[in-house]
Amino acid sequence: MPNLPLGIPSNVEKYFYNRKNGLVKIKSFLNTLNQNVANQILITGNRGVRKSFLLKKLLLELPEDILTSYIDISNLYGIQKGNLTEEQIMQALLENMNSSLRNDDDTLKKKIQNSIKDLILQIKNKEYDFKDAGSVFGVGIPDITDDYQKLSKFVMEYPQKIVDSSKGKIKGFVIVIDEFQFIGELESPEAFFWLIRSFTQKQDNVSYIFTGSTSTTSEMVNKLNGITGAFGNRMIQFNLDPFTKKETKNYLKERVNEIKFTDEGLKRFYKCTIGYPAYINSFCNMMSSSILYDENEVIHEFYQKLEQIAVKWVTIWSSLSNQEKDIISTLVENKSLKWNELIKKLDFSESTVRKNLIKLKNKGLINHHNKIYNVEDYMLSSWLKNEKDKNGFYPS
Ligand SMILES: Nc1ncnc2c1ncn2[C@@H]1O[C@H](COP(=O)(O)OP(=O)(O)OP(=O)(O)O)[C@@H](O)[C@H]1O
Ligand SMILES: [Mg+2]
Repeated sequence: MPNLPLGIPSNVEKYFYNRKNGLVKIKSFLNTLNQNVANQILITGNRGVRKSFLLKKLLLELPEDILTSYIDISNLYGIQKGNLTEEQIMQALLENMNSSLRNDDDTLKKKIQNSIKDLILQIKNKEYDFKDAGSVFGVGIPDITDDYQKLSKFVMEYPQKIVDSSKGKIKGFVIVIDEFQFIGELESPEAFFWLIRSFTQKQDNVSYIFTGSTSTTSEMVNKLNGITGAFGNRMIQFNLDPFTKKETKNYLKERVNEIKFTDEGLKRFYKCTIGYPAYINSFCNMMSSSILYDENEVIHEFYQKLEQIAVKWVTIWSSLSNQEKDIISTLVENKSLKWNELIKKLDFSESTVRKNLIKLKNKGLINHHNKIYNVEDYMLSSWLKNEKDKNGFYPS
């Protein structure tokens, strides 16, 4: 059986299927850092479409004189058991930016990194006094009384200061904020986005890439880059598409040539996986080289192994509250519902439904478009429907 990665493999180079389009595009937006123009980028796309892998690959490919940083907000959210705060995000950003100044022979990088080490410890102990840190960049840190303001100002100015103090050796800083939709769990995501906006506006060499499993029309996307959102449409925004039929075919040929399809079988395989590498990989790992997959074989295998193919969803599902699960299964059952229809079908209060819907939208599980709610992901609903058909009830 093939052994394709289900997560982001540590050996990105080995497993990355060279789909140049996305990379070339993002690189060209980042190239302007060399001319002191910093683009801000927002990449949306459904779960498993290949966002994180593409960005990891991008960071590996950027030249030495561009520093890079990557944080995943869903990890922070998980570590904090759902109590995410602005301070934690700032702290993670600073730690990560700092570790990107790899401890190499470069004395400038080393010097900055060492001075910041103590500071990070200080922040962990909630001592927000950065007076000494100012000397790292030869600038004083203004005397601000509010701790979060001090911390955020320091962190937000940090990357540009590094570029400025490098005297041309470092051209820019690229910061990836993955699963950014979890920022929706903060008390005021708007304030957080506006904060970033207010600093990026003044910085010529720092590009942020926000990405997450959320639809182009989600509330978080609007708050970040909608007309009335913090960046007011000024971010370069695009949606990542899955592999096309042709790319899927080539990918299979290159990576799992031992799996044989008839033409109709391959067509059906594409229909089942909709070109999402996450599903292509997990489906392939369940397939055998001793079978010729025609349409019926693919369908049979798909339903037989759906739980393994949709493995990501099994984990996400089990992390949801009963109320969240109820809302999702009601939507799966009814395909899509308006607010009034949904309320009627659920037996908890309107405010509870509202609260849960916000959570589900932020997690990229539910879509709200033209006043209609539905389940965002086709694989999640297929898996749930199949479980219901098989067992008579939705998984607990
Ligand atoms: N270009 C690629 N070549 C080969 N495999 C890929 C490629 N892109 C993604 N994959 C595989 O597909 C799976 C999903 O990719 P990835 O985690 O990047 O998706 P994602 O959009 O970030 O999903 P999520 O929203 O769940 O974080 C991973 O197992 C990864 O190994
Ligand atoms: Mg991802």
